[in-house]
Amino acid sequence: MPFRCYKQHMVEILNPTDDALIFLQSHFERGGIAAIPTETVYGLGGDATNPDAVIAIYQAKERPQFNPLISHYASLEMMEKDVLLDERARMVAQAFWPGPLTLILPKTAASRLADITTAGLPTAAVRMPRHPVTRQLLAHLPFPLAAPSANPSGRLSPTAAEHVAAMMGERIPYILDGGACEQGVESTILDVSGRQPALLRYGTISVDTLEAVVGPVLLPDDKHQPDAPKAPGMLLRHYAPSTPLRLSIESPHSGEALLGFGDTSKYSIYFGFEMNLSPSGDLVEASRNLFAYLHQLDARKPASIAVSPIPNHGLGIALNDRLKRAAEKEG
Ligand code: TXA
Ligand code: MG
Repeated sequence: MPFRCYKQHMVEILNPTDDALIFLQSHFERGGIAAIPTETVYGLGGDATNPDAVIAIYQAKERPQFNPLISHYASLEMMEKDVLLDERARMVAQAFWPGPLTLILPKTAASRLADITTAGLPTAAVRMPRHPVTRQLLAHLPFPLAAPSANPSGRLSPTAAEHVAAMMGERIPYILDGGACEQGVESTILDVSGRQPALLRYGTISVDTLEAVVGPVLLPDDKHQPDAPKAPGMLLRHYAPSTPLRLSIESPHSGEALLGFGDTSKYSIYFGFEMNLSPSGDLVEASRNLFAYLHQLDARKPASIAVSPIPNHGLGIALNDRLKRAAEKEG
């Protein structure tokens, strides 16, 4: 199978063959950028140690440079050159990597990460993704890949190569097609650079699961800890489709599209267009579908999108967090 699959806009979508990976390795070594698949969402990758590559990422996304990027590694040995892993960090790494978790750790004195990758902070966000294609790619690179989600800043994260092509097709040269993302929401972010571990972003790994490994974790919305660490990116409006969203709606208007969850027939008589995240009410299935369905409903350009109530426990917390941000007015 040829690796050069097809061209859409200026971008080329590449099949994940060995030839494509070799081609991309030298592209990244020359400071190029390309979209890569991960188990969470697609990332826009570039050499995390090369400031020019990283600047190209910020430019393609139109991302403010005070919002630092996550660096992706194939091994702990590589990671240890750039960040300090204490015993607690190793325990977490052992339990969740490779997988959908990002850790905030202090940079080492000899860290190779470009300052712009971490927006000048003394800490860095690092993770070891488990998507087989990207693991293979990373294993052959002598540097980590900085990769924010491959969407224009503030927009929905892409969970398929086609989403990246539609949003970023005029701005980037290549997309490595690794299929639909298995998880569908961005990684859980845990800050283990301070005394007490702090959750900075909800993801598919639940708080209970994290606490079983590291003990009590500060939560992002903890009113008693106003000084708890925060991720710069979580302060911004985020994850938004262009269509306005209305949340926890049981009776959608006519003319509005419905993003359903569970059995929606019990709520109201509704004849508009519906996509159901999970008719059986399964939160794992709903996470996988969330961004893809929002992309599809957005493309139909309804007046607004009504979203069914989603229970706020377990994975539902991450889903409601993304939806709340997506529903915020611009400004
Ligand atoms: O699942 C994911 O994490 C995806 C895939 C591609 O790996 N990436 C992703 O990256 O979601 P991005 O850039 O969209 O989100 C990274 C978040 C931002 O909110 C950023 O502010 C935060 O991580 N972050 C990065 N470095 C940080 C640091 N040193 N301290 C606190 N927060 C940091
Ligand atoms: Mg993002």
